[in-house]
Amino acid sequence: MSHRLEDLASPHLRGLIPYAPGKPIEEVERELGIRDSVKVASNENPLGPSPLALAALGPALAGVHRYPDGGGHALRHALGRHWGVSPEEVLLGNGSNELLELVGRCFLLPGDEAVYAAQSFVVYDMVAQMTGATKVVVPLRSLAHDLDAMRRAVTPRTKIVFLANPNNPTGTAVPPAAIEAFLEGLPAEPVAVVDEAYYEYLPPELRPDALRLVRGGRRVLVLRTFSKIYGLAGLRIGYGIGPADLVALLNRLRAPFNTSSLAQVAATAALQDTQHVARTRALTEAGRKYLTEQFQALGLSVAPSQANFLLVDVGRPGVAVSEALLRQGVIVRPMGGYGFPTHLRISVGTAQENERCIAALKAVLGIPPG
Ligand SMILES: Cc1ncc(COP(=O)(O)O)c(C=O)c1O
Repeated sequence: MSHRLEDLASPHLRGLIPYAPGKPIEEVERELGIRDSVKVASNENPLGPSPLALAALGPALAGVHRYPDGGGHALRHALGRHWGVSPEEVLLGNGSNELLELVGRCFLLPGDEAVYAAQSFVVYDMVAQMTGATKVVVPLRSLAHDLDAMRRAVTPRTKIVFLANPNNPTGTAVPPAAIEAFLEGLPAEPVAVVDEAYYEYLPPELRPDALRLVRGGRRVLVLRTFSKIYGLAGLRIGYGIGPADLVALLNRLRAPFNTSSLAQVAATAALQDTQHVARTRALTEAGRKYLTEQFQALGLSVAPSQANFLLVDVGRPGVAVSEALLRQGVIVRPMGGYGFPTHLRISVGTAQENERCIAALKAVLGIPPG
């Protein structure tokens, strides 16, 4: 018998590359001996958490000696009322990331197929890898999901189709009618996971009504998160909305206390915080416009984003540019791992952070300021 620890583990784990999170600001500053750095690497909310959530957290702190409500009653009911679905159609996750994993563990076995775009959220590929499923990877077309090609990639062995809209890392969104037609045109068997982590950043006319398909009983699981526009990434809370039988199945696999009491309380309050959401949307739109214009003025091409980040082609190795930016105190994400070797993904920050980012980029690219 082998003595190698790795040989004891599931064989699918051998090819699994751990998710590379953005470096914490404190560590970067300590390593480089810099201060006041700007982190625009993880698509977080630069305005901070929803103030209503913060207010709700204060009194909740005194109760953390108790286990959370494992059924997430208050939050599931609030979400049900908010979206016009029943609480039985709502599933809570430790971030929407946990739900991606849960759906993979629920349905995928070796020989099954998972369909997703070549340049989309990296966790879809990790889920396929860890379950031993066959990866059916469909190239993007003009940096957006190619829904016709994805439909053609679906076979009787397809168990899950993953679709991020807006897509990460491109920020591109597909017209709502095209998404709805795609979902309606899928065979009845596979589960379509519509990952809408950036849904709230979409203008109303670009928001697909995937929930209509859930209400109609289709095998669609809509994923949303409190990590982005609500500013609660550190609390780890997301949710899924799907037909009650699908939610019940996923709940069988879920750890009993997967979401914390603080996360549930904060999310329930944040859901009502229309002001914070509106302020964040306005800031994001203005920042996206500013950054896009600045990149274009520098002769750099940038993908048309509907999210709170931009994918920009800096025309030289992205890793080198991101390391040079780091030394200027600006933390961004190089996108080589996504098959974009000369691109950076830059989150929209506050106006001041965006200006810092552009000034640093000019310095790194050798372009005089002004
Ligand atoms: C498309 C997409 N889906 C899901 C997630 C996971 O978010 P969370 O687990 O924080 O809810 C992210 C995070 O960046 C994302 O970009």
